[in-house]
Amino acid sequence: MTAIVTGAARGIGAAVARRLAEDGHDVAVLDLDRATCADTVAAVEKAGRRGLAVGVDVTDEPAVAAAVAEVTDVLGAPTVLVNNAGILRDSPVAEMQLGDGGAVLDVHLTGAFLMTRAAQPHMAAAGRGRVVSMSSIAALGDPNRAHYSTAKAGLQGFTKTLARELGPLGITVNAVAPGFTVTDMTRAIAERRGLDAMAADRITAIPVGRAGTPDDIAQAVSFFADERSGFVSGQVLYVAGGPFG
Ligand code: NAI
Repeated sequence: MTAIVTGAARGIGAAVARRLAEDGHDVAVLDLDRATCADTVAAVEKAGRRGLAVGVDVTDEPAVAAAVAEVTDVLGAPTVLVNNAGILRDSPVAEMQLGDGGAVLDVHLTGAFLMTRAAQPHMAAAGRGRVVSMSSIAALGDPNRAHYSTAKAGLQGFTKTLARELGPLGITVNAVAPGFTVTDMTRAIAERRGLDAMAADRITAIPVGRAGTPDDIAQAVSFFADERSGFVSGQVLYVAGGPFG
């Protein structure tokens, strides 16, 4: 079984790639720069599976087609796709630049669309598939993140539509919506805003009293990606230490 994880050089994507390898998948590790995928590929191989590093910008249509073709040639046809690649460009809406907002929409929404469109025929041919996209609690509203929040809510609509459309082909489509999870992405916000305090504030608001870890999120992806989860589709699972969503 072959899985593709986008944005898997680090953070949540790296943990998901490692977990899917432990679950028995060969894993294609996709990120902007092939060289940055080496550690994740090593972790996949350490788990006893084959790993493949692929450099691709998920918003680049020909590059996405080439990446999925390379994965298919080297590891075999993908039956699991995790749309995880993401970026943040925080700013109050009044100051948000078109380019930054557009980039956020593009990476999350265009990226998930292009990757899913490219991978889905392989799943249809196999008669089974799993698509999992990374939404966020930001979908419920998150100040200074108008485009990010829009993109993450958009991924939920994408998920529900494709669950209906691809279900008859044996493909389930679900989303995981993480809460505050410690990765380079959240560390970068903390640095920009000067905020150890932000992390502390956010954690205070989390009922289980701690931030998430990439492995917490990988656990949920693993459930959706499992062969035995075939009756679960079109769902958004908030993995946020409390009753969000
Ligand atoms: P991260 O910034 O540590 O990792 C994101 C990865 O995506 C990076 O390796 C980056 O190079 C890659 N990437 C960015 N643009 C790309 C593109 N155009 N093509 C290919 N790869 C690209 O972020 P993190 O925290 O691991 O987040 C992963 C996902 O989880 C994102 O979609 C994020 O929005 C989402 N998320 C994260 C939360 C958190 O608290 N960390 C909370 C909710 C959702």
